[in-house]
Amino acid sequence: MNAPPKSFHVKSFGCQMNVYDGERMAELLGAEGMVAAADAGAADLVVLNTCHIREKAAEKVYSDIGRLRRDDGSTPMIAVAGCVAQAEGAEITRRAKSVDIVVGPQAYHRLPEMVAEAAAGRRALDTDMPALSKFDALPRRRKQGPSAFLTVQEGCDKFCTYCVVPYTRGAEVSRPWDAVIDEAKALADAGAREITLLGQNVNAWTDERGRGLHDLIEAIAAMPTIARIRYTTSHPNDMADGLIAAHRDVEKLMPFLHLPVQSGSDRVLKAMNRSHDVASYLKLIDRVRAARPDIAISGDYIVGFPGETDADFEATLDAIRAVGHAQAFSFKYSPRPGTPAATMGDQVPEAVMDERLQRLQALVREQAIAFNAATIGRTTDVLVERKGKLPGQMLGKSPWLQSVLIDSAAKVGDMVEVEIVSGGPNSVQAVERVRAAA
Ligand code: SAH
Ligand code: SF4
Ligand code: F3S
Repeated sequence: MNAPPKSFHVKSFGCQMNVYDGERMAELLGAEGMVAAADAGAADLVVLNTCHIREKAAEKVYSDIGRLRRDDGSTPMIAVAGCVAQAEGAEITRRAKSVDIVVGPQAYHRLPEMVAEAAAGRRALDTDMPALSKFDALPRRRKQGPSAFLTVQEGCDKFCTYCVVPYTRGAEVSRPWDAVIDEAKALADAGAREITLLGQNVNAWTDERGRGLHDLIEAIAAMPTIARIRYTTSHPNDMADGLIAAHRDVEKLMPFLHLPVQSGSDRVLKAMNRSHDVASYLKLIDRVRAARPDIAISGDYIVGFPGETDADFEATLDAIRAVGHAQAFSFKYSPRPGTPAATMGDQVPEAVMDERLQRLQALVREQAIAFNAATIGRTTDVLVERKGKLPGQMLGKSPWLQSVLIDSAAKVGDMVEVEIVSGGPNSVQAVERVRAAA
């Protein structure tokens, strides 16, 4: 039995939506009078907000639980939240006896009740999926940095054959227009200058009046203190004309698009159930670039999907060359329990995957260096997000989502005009432009 916790620590893994969810859980616990502890070691309650996307991510939770044991043998109250909680449910408490609470991504608004239950000595488990009810139960945000996440859509109906997300996050659901606009206003009032709209397929957002993501973007762009809007992650099939046009017409919509294609081989895409081919993806990129020529394109790639041949992999490298990425994420295929691909024949050996991943990442790195080099000499705005490692150094983001290092007296949340002077694969350096006095 645990005493009712007075302090908490939330640790989030995985995607930005988990970061958003983790912030919401922290607010819920804060609203109950608990205080945020500096780290897990100092907290009465530790929430592990987990990710199930690849095996490594999912297994990590068990070693993390083990590490929470303290020198005197005691453990804090432990809650496992997020996608592993949803996927494994009660299996978690069977494998890890020190876990007190298992709460899925659609049930975390019940966390305070569950903490009370655990304090009374009962294990608490909730992996129900009542779409959207959690959003209504969340307290209003009080504290907010310059760059904020806002979940507008959750879940996925695409069922790519490798992916657990449709099972852990449930069916595609869009939050209502008013709820999103109200939260955006609250974020603006709390000091946000940039809002990133989140969804597993964020560009599938829609409402009963048939409005799309671009309508939401336009409405948020009309809020005077919001300077920048971003959105992630998108699916190629949901890239509506209106959204592409918004990249041309809405100045506050940043020139950055994360649009995963996963593979450059049509055969593999078919086996992945991606329901688009390589040519249609490349055409889409052309249309986006026609609307916004300087747009930075990001993506996700999986190497070693079952049955992927050398020729399939070469086709992926060709596709990457054809796109020209500013950045991209890439992963070795990881078989996930319950997904169709996990039981497909021709699983690719680990050593082959390693080699392919290395080659792909080398190519993406070259492209990132080239992208950053091409921005040298540009004058642009940087939203300052935090202090850099060196004295006097600040770190912010360019419109193209580059990490920008500047020597500046600017404060977090300032928008400063800079000239980019040099760049590497992961960041660029810039000098602040001193505006001539009037
Ligand atoms: N909804 C988003 C995010 C999905 S998860 C999308 O469709 O893009 C993020 C990325 O993880 C995916 O794009 C994919 O590249 C990768 N991924 C998903 N399942 C995987 C698996 N089983 N093995 C390896 N990578 C995977
Ligand atoms: Fe997973 Fe595919 Fe849905 Fe993305 S679109 S979340 S990769 S099933
Ligand atoms: Fe991971 Fe769940 Fe996000 S599996 S990537 S935390 S949706």
